[in-house]
Formats: sequence, C-alpha cells, structure tokens
Amino acid sequence: MTSSFNVQSAAGYEQLMGRWSRRLAPSFIDFAGVADGERVLDVGCGTGSLTFALPRAADVSEIVAIDFSPVFVEATIRASSDPRIKVQQADACALPFADASFDRAMALLVLHFVPESGKAVAEMRRVTRPGGVVSAVVWDHYGGMPGMRMVLDVAAMLDEKADQVRSRYCFQPMMRPGEMIQNFAAHGLERVEQTSLMIRMDYQSFEDFWQPIAAGEGPLGKYIGALDSGQRAKIDAAVRAAYQAGQPDGPRSFAAVAWACRGIVPGA
Ligand SMILES: C[S@@+](CC[C@H](N)C(=O)[O-])C[C@H]1O[C@@H](n2cnc3c(N)ncnc32)[C@H](O)[C@@H]1O
Repeated sequence: MTSSFNVQSAAGYEQLMGRWSRRLAPSFIDFAGVADGERVLDVGCGTGSLTFALPRAADVSEIVAIDFSPVFVEATIRASSDPRIKVQQADACALPFADASFDRAMALLVLHFVPESGKAVAEMRRVTRPGGVVSAVVWDHYGGMPGMRMVLDVAAMLDEKADQVRSRYCFQPMMRPGEMIQNFAAHGLERVEQTSLMIRMDYQSFEDFWQPIAAGEGPLGKYIGALDSGQRAKIDAAVRAAYQAGQPDGPRSFAAVAWACRGIVPGA
C-alpha cells in the first residue's frame, strides 16, 4: 500500500487539517529554506498549503506539486492561478521525475501516511540535485497533538478497538523520537538536522473541532464513522465533555508540535 491517508473531500480536509497546515507551512519553509530561481517539488501537496506558501517566500522558478489522491490534485489545480505551479498525480515512492531535476524536495505532513516512508525519502533524494535540500515534517501524534489525543484517550476508555486505533495513530511512520533524522541519514543525506515546529489549532466551538472528524475525515474520522449508533453517541458525549472541560462551550486552543527534518544531497 502506497498511502494510508483517508480522504473524503477536499473541503473536509481543509476543515480538519488544511487550515492548520497553512499555519505550519511558513515555519517549515523557514527551517527548510527556499531561494529565488529554484525548482521545488512539493510531495503530497493535499490542498496546497505548502504549494501556495512557497511563491510567497521566494521568487521560485517552478513548483511541481504531486499527490497520490486525485481529489487533492483536482482541488489544487482548481485553486491555482500561478503559471509556475504544476500539479499532477504521482506516488511519493515512485516519483516520475529524472534524477537531480529539482533544487529542493519538500513534504509537509505526508511521510507518516506513506507506509514505506523510507522509499519516499530515497525518491526525494534521487530527484534532488547534489547540494539541494530534502526536507519533511510529520506531526508528533504521541507527544505533540493533545487535541486528537484527547479524542482517542477518551474513546479508548469506552471502546477497546480505540486502543488499537490510538496505538496506530501515535506511532505512524517517522513519528518516534529520532526516527526521521535516522532515516534521512540512512538514505545518505548529509548535515541532517531536526527541529520541532509548533502552531496553535484554535477552534471556535466544539462543533468547529468535532465536525470534520464526525464527517469521517482523517484517521480519527475513519474510526468514528465505523461506530454503531450507541457507541457513537457515548463517544460524542464524552469527547464533548473533555473539550468543554467543565466550562461552557466556546473557543479552545490546542498546541500542535511537529518533527521537522532537513538534509543535503551529497556530491555538490
Ligand atoms: C495530511 S495530508 C498533507 C497535505 C498537505 N501537504 C498539507 O500539509 O496540507 C497528506 C497528503 O499526503 C498524500 N499522500 C499520502 N501518501 C502518498 C503517496 N504515497 N504519494 C503521494 N502523496 C501521498 C495524501 O493524499 C494527502 O494529500
């Protein structure tokens, strides 16, 4: 399997994550770097959070954005009016590009949805020129995603299947401490560095927080969508109570921390 990502609709993804990945993209670009004139590959573009942030950061010559899901390819094409942006369907594990054809290959919140994520790193390295930069970000679901952990911790108290979902969610590829940096080094990237990036996910209300998950988006949405109506009602109520934490419904803010990694392709 090439992708474990669960996509219902581009609009649903925007509500669940796109609005937050847009917040994360500028700090990823600061860490990974980008320069005028570069040709950049955005691997797993989704709805284009990184794709559209790149030309705001530098006067790049071209951005090639790929995604495995045709739903996202269409959404990004529809949203794009910049002729430097080219969007196509492709698999991160078998990139349809020549060796050394990009200055940079970047993946924002993608590698944890690629079961053979090491293959994707190898491909990103292959298509990046010597001296170019390969970079990636994944969420730290175990230690850095308290909003979603709240849902799974509550659900795991009420449903033993949720315990397995939580285990898979917390330890998706590249999420363990040191895993991504070791992987980058093992694929021959040099001067590999890792950092943590943090944003806040701000919700207006429980409905704002819960609606995309309740509609079946993302890994938690898939679990919630498969519950029978009795279990579903219990878990909805328990998650609402955890969100409200004894206060009236209203705005809440969760920190969200990601692992970010960058390395240089040798041979320049
Ligand atoms: C969480 S979304 C991130 C999207 C976007 N980069 C962002 O930050 O909003 C993960 C994306 O990775 C894509 N993806 C997962 N496996 C992939 C693969 N093997 N090749 C290409 N794209 C993949 C999914 O289709 C999805 O768009």
